[in-house]
Amino acid sequence: MTADPTASPPQFPPIDDALRARLAADVHRPRYHFLPEANWLNDPNGLIQWQGLYHLFYQYNPHGAFHGTIHWGHAVSADLVHWEHLPIGLHPTPGGPDQDGCWSGCAVDDDGVATLIYTGVRGPDQLACVARSTDDRLIAWEKYVGNPVIAAPPPDLDLVAYRDHSVWREDGVWYQVIGAGIRGVGGTALLYRSPDLLQWEYMHPVLVGDIKATDPVWTGEMWECPDLFQLDDRHVLMVAAWNDHRLHYSAYMVGEFEDLRFKPQHGGITDPGDSFYAPQTMRDDQGRRLMWGWLREDWSGDHQREAGWSGAMSLPRELFIRPDGHLGQRPVPELQMLRGIQMSDTNIVLGDEPVRWIAVDEASEIIVEIELGDATYIDLDVRCSEDDEERTRITFDRAAQTLGVDRTRASLLHAPVMPLTVGPHPLAEGETLRLQIFLDHSVIEIFGNERTAHAVRVYPARRDSLDLVAHARGGHARIVQIDMWDLDSQPQRDSLAATRVE
Ligand code: FRU
Repeated sequence: MTADPTASPPQFPPIDDALRARLAADVHRPRYHFLPEANWLNDPNGLIQWQGLYHLFYQYNPHGAFHGTIHWGHAVSADLVHWEHLPIGLHPTPGGPDQDGCWSGCAVDDDGVATLIYTGVRGPDQLACVARSTDDRLIAWEKYVGNPVIAAPPPDLDLVAYRDHSVWREDGVWYQVIGAGIRGVGGTALLYRSPDLLQWEYMHPVLVGDIKATDPVWTGEMWECPDLFQLDDRHVLMVAAWNDHRLHYSAYMVGEFEDLRFKPQHGGITDPGDSFYAPQTMRDDQGRRLMWGWLREDWSGDHQREAGWSGAMSLPRELFIRPDGHLGQRPVPELQMLRGIQMSDTNIVLGDEPVRWIAVDEASEIIVEIELGDATYIDLDVRCSEDDEERTRITFDRAAQTLGVDRTRASLLHAPVMPLTVGPHPLAEGETLRLQIFLDHSVIEIFGNERTAHAVRVYPARRDSLDLVAHARGGHARIVQIDMWDLDSQPQRDSLAATRVE
């Protein structure tokens, strides 16, 4: 290992008072989702619990709200909810194999030494590099003098790209998969093994996708950010399906990992909203598998630069295998500590006539349980203006067993690239629809029956786009119970979180 030659903190444009004031006043900037103090964020990286604290690293550009000169931002939390910003973890070393960027990677515990495996970018090369921590707070990192630790991709494969790392240890041997795509064939995750995290031997692809296959989902030309892990009695391979011309999304496969090859049994899109991408997972000391993903913006690049910030982290989600073999997701219970002022209502019949609650806080949580009755669609409009000119509609379609979000009218200012997003949401016979909705300014994260997740970005123009409106179509349904909490409630506020219009 060698001390990083640029170890003295590099200088970045300061976050000056004017920018700070602009960010604080920005009505679209999330308040309780994690994001850096300013500038650009993309993938979560290096997730690890160290001496009881959760460390979150992330792709970060300290020079502005655009993707460029990627560093590893760093934050720490004791409770998964409140994050403290720490100094930048990794920065490109001039003249080094990561001089053009420290791209995505992971963290492992190498017998008491926190160790990062990440992609160093130099010109066209994107190669595995290693850095080891030298302090308990994971603030100081020494890059390995022999970086990159893998000199080149396997020579006999014709790859469209090769980067990002998932590393684990089994029976004293380190394994990693690196994301790649075989030209004309499909995405893949290439398996390596090592005795020491420094010398790596290429083995084989754990799985190769089929660029033509659309069942269960199209997984693209290349797999970014592969993450291979055990979950309950199965294994999961999560990949960021990348392609040149279609929207990117995260896909999961649940299956068996046998003889060092992955055999998928079930699969799908991790989050059908168009924002959630490049997730990474970690196992914590309670044995939970936790996942964060990058919630990218929907604004134009110019708008993001102008705003001075871009990208937020999803809420931490706990993963599990559902009885139907698919991947289940639910928000971690720690988030309940954010709850402030509460409003509750029970037993409300839903039909064509809208039921409306006014002035739901821009940072709030809504939990609603609905008996479907004989209704065919249930609509919940959030961020809805008084005259419904702006609204984001969440719809459960009973016949199709889907949960969708319609942002066609979400904003007078902004036309979403993909206004309609929809994903499977199967309910058992007689099961109630239970939605847990997190509103955080431009972020909406919806969890359905503690098993599916759907995140979108919305940028309402009107300040009164705060109402929640519910109705049922095709028949009647019944709200068994609805609870709402302000999540950023100020102690001096004593009004209710929201009020139902009678
Ligand atoms: C995914 C990704 C990774 C890469 C990183 C660069 O969003 O493109 O493949 O390592 O972001 O910031």
